Amino acid sequence: MKLKSFLRGVAVTFAITAAASAQADITLRHALTGEVLDLSFAKKGGNTDKFKQFMQTGKNPYNGDAEAAKKGESLYMTGCSGCHGHEAEGKLGPGLADDYWTYPRGLTDQGLFEILFGGANGMMGPQYVNFSTDDMLHIMAFLRSIYKGDPKKAEWLK
Ligand code: HEC
Repeated sequence: MKLKSFLRGVAVTFAITAAASAQADITLRHALTGEVLDLSFAKKGGNTDKFKQFMQTGKNPYNGDAEAAKKGESLYMTGCSGCHGHEAEGKLGPGLADDYWTYPRGLTDQGLFEILFGGANGMMGPQYVNFSTDDMLHIMAFLRSIYKGDPKKAEWLK
């Protein structure tokens, strides 16, 4: 019987480990410092099911969703176009619809989110001040929808 209860213990441990790893979130890091981003700064209301999904997969669940991209476009026009241009062609800040990236992590959804949430150099401040995490995913979906670069470089599609 001892062996049986030992095995049961092992099975329980496995189940707990599996459940924990299934729910493990990705770790988001600042684009410049590499420091772990503190999501407690996030605006309220952004911890939607879609955002939770993103935190588990590192993939933006709004990609390819035309309605989400439309909402993202209007948010982009309010908070980003002044510096990045109305078609994300670049202005004060770099173009965001091409395949040249100062921070190549922008080619993944996780990396793009890290740049938005935590900011980068100079005028590119942390966007959690203006947008919820769910808003940021919408803006990202918009940017992916107007991508004009080499499709082979579109890491987020892989
Ligand atoms: C006040 C001007 C300003 C605003 C507003 C702003 N940005 Fe930026 N952004 C910049 C500048 C300047 C840079 C270049 C920073 C650097 O190189 O570190 C930048 C860099 C970036 C990068 C990195 C691009 C690359 O090539 O790696 C991304 C992505 C980005 N911004 C997205 C956004 C989005 C999306 C918004 C709106 C939510 C936004 N920015 C709002 C000025 C701005």
